[in-house]
Amino acid sequence: MKSEFVSFPLCAVTLLTLALSQHCLAIRWLALSQTSEHINKTQQCKSLPGLVSSQAQLCRTNLELMQVIVQAAREVKKTCQKTFSDMRWNCSSIEAPKYLPDLERGTRESAFVYALAAAAISHTIARACTSGDLRLCSCGPIPGDTLEPGHRWGGCADNLHYGLNMGSKFSDAPMKMKKKTGLHPNKLMHLHNSEVGRQALKDALVMKCKCHGVSGSCSIRTCWRGLHDLKEIAQDLKTKYLSATRVKHQPTGTRKQLVPKDIDVRPVRENELVYLQSSPDFCAKNEKMGSIGTQDSRQCNKTSSGSDSCDLMCCGRGYNPYTEKVMERCHCKYHWCCYVTCKKCERTVERYVCK
Ligand SMILES: *[C@@H]1O[C@H](CO)[C@@H](O)[C@H](O)[C@H]1NC(C)=O
Ligand SMILES: *[C@@H]1O[C@H](CO)[C@@H](O)[C@H](O)[C@H]1NC(C)=O
Ligand SMILES: *[C@@H]1O[C@H](CO)[C@@H](O)[C@H](O)[C@H]1NC(C)=O
Repeated sequence: MKSEFVSFPLCAVTLLTLALSQHCLAIRWLALSQTSEHINKTQQCKSLPGLVSSQAQLCRTNLELMQVIVQAAREVKKTCQKTFSDMRWNCSSIEAPKYLPDLERGTRESAFVYALAAAAISHTIARACTSGDLRLCSCGPIPGDTLEPGHRWGGCADNLHYGLNMGSKFSDAPMKMKKKTGLHPNKLMHLHNSEVGRQALKDALVMKCKCHGVSGSCSIRTCWRGLHDLKEIAQDLKTKYLSATRVKHQPTGTRKQLVPKDIDVRPVRENELVYLQSSPDFCAKNEKMGSIGTQDSRQCNKTSSGSDSCDLMCCGRGYNPYTEKVMERCHCKYHWCCYVTCKKCERTVERYVCK
């Protein structure tokens, strides 16, 4: 009888340690978004929040990269919340460490966050190379292909190669730790989705050109390869989120891998996000599931027919109107030549929040 009472807390502690060491750490580096100190000394590496030992090691050997990675963590948070501002799940989970554990549950939402985080870190590093913020890299290579007449290569390409290389080293590090493989499926899932994020980033490298010539005649254009902004990449990933595939962990030959759960036998595609566990509907508050719910405070849009419509956002509970005063430019007048003056007017708008 007594041993039962003793064994229970022991088990809980073991589970907790296991959970902390393997389960919750993989995306903890996003907590860097809250760092306010400027990182310029190697001694700071061990006190930074959310880093596993191999990431702290990368911090020491690539110190100048850290400020860029902090910036990337902030970009992930901002972009995720903006991209999901019209959904019930609005990426509040990323307010690390408060709701973070739900992102480790292997849900569709965590699939999106891992993909975005992997894309963002490489994106931010690639751009930092271009803007001269890093000493160890500069512009990307000038492509070998010939351009059509009137175009020539020039300018500074985003250094995607360096970004992908350093970014994946850092953000994949927690999934590549040589620890007991107890939670292997989640690791496989996170690695796959991170790769999907990086693929979306590669697809976002496009040719950009600038006009030159007498008074904008555009007789010659210089072109370079530049990346789309992160918010466009996030939109691409949101589309993949909406059509993500549920997978299961299954032996295939000698090793276990992720295969689609409900559909016909086919391997997981390289460009699809995958998840292992279904998500709640995010209507009600359930902290353990990472749902803050939409009751009492969430804004909805009465005229929208999409996911931010009051019916969908409020889960049929109804909604309350309130008014808000907004300042707008008004009575604008054109003056010859060439400027416009406006006045400021106050306008009352009606908005809605879920009951
Ligand atoms: C490191 O950053 C701090 C805070 O910005 C600054 O005061 C200090 O001079 C910097 N040290 C070096 C060695 O650049
Ligand atoms: C997310 O939704 C909650 C209420 O459901 C709201 O309080 C919070 O401000 C929202 N966050 C963002 C970033 O919009
Ligand atoms: C509400 O949705 C409509 C239709 O999609 C859109 O035109 C409008 O800008 C939205 N309003 C707000 C406050 O987001």
